[in-house]
Amino acid sequence: MTPESNMITIASGKGGVGKTWLSISLASALARENQSVLLFDGDLGLANVDVQLGLVPDQDLGDLLSGRATLTKAVSHYDATGFDVLAGKSGSGALSNMRRERLDSLRQHLRDASKSYDQVILDMAAGVDTANISVGSHGGMTLVVLTGEPTSLTDAYAFMKLRRMRDPGADMRIVINNAPDKESADKAYSAISKACATFLQFRPPLLGTVLTDSHVGAAIRSQSDIFSRYPQSDAARQVTTLARALLAEQKRSERRRSA
Ligand SMILES: Nc1ncnc2c1ncn2[C@@H]1O[C@H](COP(=O)(O)OP(=O)(O)O)[C@@H](O)[C@H]1O
Ligand SMILES: [Mg+2]
Repeated sequence: MTPESNMITIASGKGGVGKTWLSISLASALARENQSVLLFDGDLGLANVDVQLGLVPDQDLGDLLSGRATLTKAVSHYDATGFDVLAGKSGSGALSNMRRERLDSLRQHLRDASKSYDQVILDMAAGVDTANISVGSHGGMTLVVLTGEPTSLTDAYAFMKLRRMRDPGADMRIVINNAPDKESADKAYSAISKACATFLQFRPPLLGTVLTDSHVGAAIRSQSDIFSRYPQSDAARQVTTLARALLAEQKRSERRRSA
């Protein structure tokens, strides 16, 4: 694989659209497809990933950035589905408050990680500030998550506009999450793709859709991933489909690059 082509940013613009849940579920689904996966919690301060998984990490990003721990030491392992987590708390503050050198060092660590894992997933905080956009920018794919709500559409659009300004060739794909039914999911995708085509002159492809499923909240409440708790649920099936589509797209991009 080309360096960084295995990095996957989960972004949105708006909070509460299901980025953290999707990051965990995608990490689990990819691990189930025999991929070694690192999930990086880029939503510093809120430490969502370990809470959703019931992990109590004894090392985190702060230890890595200060040089107290190597990457191998700084990660925690989530045993149930089998992937590594780099937790982001320990008072490191939001990315937007991080000094430039620290941000550069963080990006370098992520680049290094992309050489040791098959897949590196970055669960980003909501927001379109420079630090957020810059850490989430790399040679891989960015999954822009939206529900069907109008505010999630406008915020996703704002995110894509800024990301394109930084990197016109950015590989961005849409994921619709937590839409009540297929019709509203289709409507949301067609609205965002029309806005992008009209004002940004590009049409982001749809990578996949996960509909609203009450098993999602129930799994989160029991601090476990959807596959361990509700393997037969629609949400688990739809995330598996999403993960397979992602692997197929990575292979396709790889072939295009080497052609
Ligand atoms: N597909 C879904 N079906 C039902 N509820 C969902 C779904 N996706 C997300 N949620 C709900 O949305 C809440 C917010 O998700 P979260 O991953 O924390 O969002 P974000 O990281 O974007 O702020 C979760 O606690 C969960 O209850
Ligand atoms: Mg989150």
